[in-house]
Amino acid sequence: MLKKIRACVFISGQGTNLLSIIKSSRNYDFPIKIVLVISNKKNAYGLKIAQKYSLPYKFFSSSNQNIFERKCLTIFKKEKINFLCLAGFMKVLSKKFIKSFRYKIINIHPSLLPKYKGTDTHKRVLKSKDKYAGCTVHFVTAKLDSGKIILQKKVLISRNETEKSLNKKILKAEHRIYPQAIISIFK
Ligand code: GRF
Repeated sequence: MLKKIRACVFISGQGTNLLSIIKSSRNYDFPIKIVLVISNKKNAYGLKIAQKYSLPYKFFSSSNQNIFERKCLTIFKKEKINFLCLAGFMKVLSKKFIKSFRYKIINIHPSLLPKYKGTDTHKRVLKSKDKYAGCTVHFVTAKLDSGKIILQKKVLISRNETEKSLNKKILKAEHRIYPQAIISIFK
């Protein structure tokens, strides 16, 4: 039987990407097993999703980032976590944390990187003359949204596109590529 990599998912919000990874990880040949979900927001809906799927979860406040990161590293060691997925996690991890973890960290970003790093991606792409928007799964490095790209998916920007409609389209694409990207890393 395939020995799955023990993974943690960091969230801050609604957790729709978390849900898509959970669903994929139920396949016997999916390379990772989610053994922990951590939210830095107490009321993140994603925590309810973790609960629904009987996954261990924690809320750690990130108001003091140093303490947040130290708590995470301690629990990673205890739970033998060897892979970290950021899924709608709205905090930039410190260089120190990324170095200390030693294993792979990946993130999903709602733009076609290297375009539109940071926040307000939909607003910025709609202001541009771009024909396409999209999403990217990439490795996390100390430089924001700049690590090696694993997978991207384009979506066409329609004539009357709004931030809301674009968000819906891109989220749908995110849910498809996040599990695909994880598979491709361990192939
Ligand atoms: C997604 O667009 C993700 O790329 C971004 O946060 C949004 C919410 O994701 N960083 P989720 O529904 O909480 O997974």
